[in-house]
Amino acid sequence: MLDRPAAAKPARLATKQMFSMFVTPMFTGMLPDIGLCDRIETKLREIQKSGRGSPSPGGMILAYMTPDDLQTLLEMKELVDVVMAEAASILDVYAVHRDSHYVSNMWANIANPNRRHNFHIHPNCLLSGLVYIKVPKNCGATIFASPRLHAKNLEPDYYKMNEFNADIFSLPPEKGRMLIWPSDLPTARLNVR
Ligand SMILES: [Fe+2]
Repeated sequence: MLDRPAAAKPARLATKQMFSMFVTPMFTGMLPDIGLCDRIETKLREIQKSGRGSPSPGGMILAYMTPDDLQTLLEMKELVDVVMAEAASILDVYAVHRDSHYVSNMWANIANPNRRHNFHIHPNCLLSGLVYIKVPKNCGATIFASPRLHAKNLEPDYYKMNEFNADIFSLPPEKGRMLIWPSDLPTARLNVR
């Protein structure tokens, strides 16, 4: 019987490393006082009844959109304070050199059932955010798309999804949950009620 040499192991790299390049963060957490959502909703309904704001276009099923300067209202100060503090932490993550920062626009959408909002970005901003004020049963989620989504020209079948192959990110809507993301990240709302 001839001795056969053991099958050679394929050569592997030494001192291997993997870098995550061009990370896209999503910051999220719950408002410290969920009751703030109810107080804000009361104010938003009041604004809606007053006739200010407009139907939010972009689809067959409209939504109501408040004026986009809610950050100036006294009733929003509690929320704005949270936003400003969290934004400061995030700008530190990005190591942004700055003297100060501010909320450029803040508005609310009250969506009708089955209202959808197409993918869009928020130009001229560094950070965008949302907070769920009211979450009806079967409320649709906010969806975030990878910037590389439309640059791909091959899409294999995956046997499981993970952070390396997924091009869509979403969290279940939850009353009082705030999300903050880089403003150039494409965002859409899918409302199913
Ligand atoms: Fe938006």
